[in-house]
Amino acid sequence: MDLSIHDLVKRFGKLTALDHVSLEVAQGSFVCFLGPSGCGKTTLLRVIAGLEEADGGSIRLGDSDLSAIPARNRNFGVVFQSYSLFPNMTAARNVGYGLECRRWDRPRMQNRIKEMLDLVHLADQAEKLPSQMSGGQQQRIALARALAPDPSALLLDEPLSALDAKVREELRIEIRAVQKRLGITTIMVTHDQEEALAMADLIVVMSKGRIEQIGTPQQLYREPATAFVADFIGRMNVLPLDPGAAAGSYSFGGTALEVATTVNGSKGPSAPAALGIRPEAVALHEAGASGENILAANVRSVSFLGNITRIELAPENRPEIAIVAELHGTAAVPETGARLAVSLPADALRVLS
Ligand SMILES: Nc1ncnc2c1ncn2[C@@H]1O[C@H](COP(=O)(O)OP(=O)(O)OP(=O)(O)O)[C@@H](O)[C@H]1O
Ligand SMILES: [Mg+2]
Repeated sequence: MDLSIHDLVKRFGKLTALDHVSLEVAQGSFVCFLGPSGCGKTTLLRVIAGLEEADGGSIRLGDSDLSAIPARNRNFGVVFQSYSLFPNMTAARNVGYGLECRRWDRPRMQNRIKEMLDLVHLADQAEKLPSQMSGGQQQRIALARALAPDPSALLLDEPLSALDAKVREELRIEIRAVQKRLGITTIMVTHDQEEALAMADLIVVMSKGRIEQIGTPQQLYREPATAFVADFIGRMNVLPLDPGAAAGSYSFGGTALEVATTVNGSKGPSAPAALGIRPEAVALHEAGASGENILAANVRSVSFLGNITRIELAPENRPEIAIVAELHGTAAVPETGARLAVSLPADALRVLS
């Protein structure tokens, strides 16, 4: 069943934590809420879970309106950042907790616990207490516990953020594999863009209680609609537009720039404010080169980073706006202080609002 969120508003006193949020989560999909600290991700997840009451708007699961249904009857599996296992219960009893509450009979419960422990590859840890397990193991038990009662959706709030980098990457793959295998609708909150890009079918980028953009990882990377999204997902050079240009034409630092594509093939935002270009799309030529979308610039710094070299450039007409270029592998690397021609290919420029 699809989850349908319409016009949600949540206030804490004077603060509007959710400001008219609407979105659709398709059955079986993996959706990430992504955004900086305080943007409302956890609040949105808690309202969906029924742990927080909205001040307006509606949430529907298939045909049923969830507003009047208390959290325990919504049948969602929830996993939080901190390992919320019961410290005095073994892994197996933790996994079975929701089943005991639902009064499953003993043999059925034992089968299900075993099935869930196998699913997260921890069958050999069944009799351990949480304090005897690593953080990654505890989060896998928390996942197994959330999945045991066969919930209609899984809600995860930064489940990996307390783990070290290597375990985090392993668990990303494992969670995604479990989610696909069960086909369970999953919403995961994260502030880690790489995690969202790696795991999600659909990413909901949030800022200040509002949705900035919803799209697949590829869409958000290739076609960010706003400077905020462009900057939050990957690296993007943001070039403020010169004021006073005619509609549909763009200029930066006095140089007219051609733009081949616009957001989602439409005319682009009605109030364009900047052009964006990814560092890997910026091309460098010898000073004096001529052609479309070429600016003169000086090399401010050169950082060798192994697989890439990052070059920071100061455009001659707008030296305060840095343009970053990334060169791969064996490309010729300029010297700091060199004067160059920087080309901003028309098909790589994005119009940002
Ligand atoms: N119970 C509460 N009472 C008052 N204000 C709250 C409450 N819960 C959240 N807030 C406020 O609502 C805003 C959104 O909080 P929320 O926890 O949803 O952010 P978040 O995006 O999950 O951030 P983080 O990445 O830091 O977890 C914040 O400004 C926060 O201070
Ligand atoms: Mg949070």
